[in-house]
Amino acid sequence: MNISVLGTGYVGLVTGVCLANLGHNVTCYDIDKNKIELLKCGKVPFFEPQVEEFVIKNLLKNGINFTTDIKIATKDCDIVFIAVGTPQKENGEADLSYIENVAMQIGKNISAYTIIVNKSTVPIGTANLIKTIIENECDVEFDIISNPEFLREGSAVEDFLNPERIIIGSNSEKASEIINELYKDFLCPIVNTNIETAEMIKYASNAFLATKISFINEIANICEKVGADIDDVSHAMGLDSRIGNKFLNAGIGYGGSCFPKDIKALSNIALSHNYDFELLKSVIKVNCNQRLFLINKIQKLLGNLEGKKICIWGIAFKPDTDDIRESAAIDIINLLHNKSVVVNAYDPQANHEHIRNHEKITGEINLFSDKYEALKNCEALVVTTEWEEFKIPDFDKIKTYLINPTIIDGRNIYSPIKMKKIGFKYISIGRKEI
Ligand code: UDX
Ligand code: UDX
Repeated sequence: MNISVLGTGYVGLVTGVCLANLGHNVTCYDIDKNKIELLKCGKVPFFEPQVEEFVIKNLLKNGINFTTDIKIATKDCDIVFIAVGTPQKENGEADLSYIENVAMQIGKNISAYTIIVNKSTVPIGTANLIKTIIENECDVEFDIISNPEFLREGSAVEDFLNPERIIIGSNSEKASEIINELYKDFLCPIVNTNIETAEMIKYASNAFLATKISFINEIANICEKVGADIDDVSHAMGLDSRIGNKFLNAGIGYGGSCFPKDIKALSNIALSHNYDFELLKSVIKVNCNQRLFLINKIQKLLGNLEGKKICIWGIAFKPDTDDIRESAAIDIINLLHNKSVVVNAYDPQANHEHIRNHEKITGEINLFSDKYEALKNCEALVVTTEWEEFKIPDFDKIKTYLINPTIIDGRNIYSPIKMKKIGFKYISIGRKEI
């Protein structure tokens, strides 16, 4: 099929390259010229496993092309995927201006029956808005489908190719049949439903996962008070198939481009329908507090923090990505800045320029390209992202470089017993201090 994907961010590009890899003829559009120029040369502007490999392979086969011309992207194709961002407005609502803009362009350019598939996370009812915008621009027949994505950054290609479910929200039998055909070789269940339900499934799934994280974080906080061990609690809870073992890792809370904004957006959607989603409000509050608790622990261990130097390992919001949007590490860094701490930091992938230009970072960060160099003259190491390379470091080197051998582990990647044995002051989340 001839397919276009509008927006070549994490979601759009992964969707585009995977569909090209399955043999479709794909055109990827983005408003950002630099991104498109890089992609045309087979270079991916962000770090995501396997994507570059797929881009190069499909460029060589002429199965994919990249353009900044939305006319080229929306004309003469069977299916147009919308994957532009839906960032959060100041009041927590989803900003739909990018979606509205591309919908208008679709309306101006389609000339024969086209299916418009929305992959971006949008408030319930947005498909109708897209429909109205397109209808105002043209008389051509078209249908809208809601096909939310569940891709996790760091494993997005794997997640696209091996999904646990595919959701097809449609109010048109014809469009639904074509999109079912598109996904016919996938082995997972396909849930066919109406558009509003599909849009809700996305928010409900993300909100539930975030709730699981905030729940386990609260249990971890209580574990610390009663002498229980959160790792064993999570493990044992996860053995119950009704609970499941995923998303039960306690730490400094969730971040990223999806959970924080989607959870707030769902809370706002509920409010706009005069429903106060109490549980979600607590999920957000607990997530925020989790960062504050870590700062209290650092303070308890090091005393007055003013003027002290602390090293942060991990700025990306999770391992295997260079994405720093809404990262817990950034909140931690800002809270340390508030206490007049000098921050050294290292991340295996996060781009130094992005970090320096990040509007949410309130102060100076000394960025290092070597994790051990970053430790020099610091009072403590704080682990904020559980990158694989942090899990078995050279502890002797850490000890030599830090002023005091002190580790605050925000992701529970080390064993408290081992840390004590090798002579570290060590604090983690929801585990007994040894
Ligand atoms: C996606 C979804 O779109 C979002 O709704 C979901 O909640 C998370 O995943 P993501 O792929 O992570 O977002 O977004 P981002 O990396 O910001 O990429 C969006 C792309 O759309 C950018 O490359 C941007 O340049 C492009 N864009 C934006 C356009 O091409 N046109 C616009 O008008 C606006
Ligand atoms: C998420 C959803 O998982 C995906 O389905 C959706 O469509 C896009 O948003 P992503 O944001 O890439 O994916 O990352 P995810 O792996 O879900 O992690 C989100 C955050 O939760 C990270 O900050 C991570 O550190 C945190 N997390 C995750 C925990 O704190 N504990 C856990 O047990 C799991």
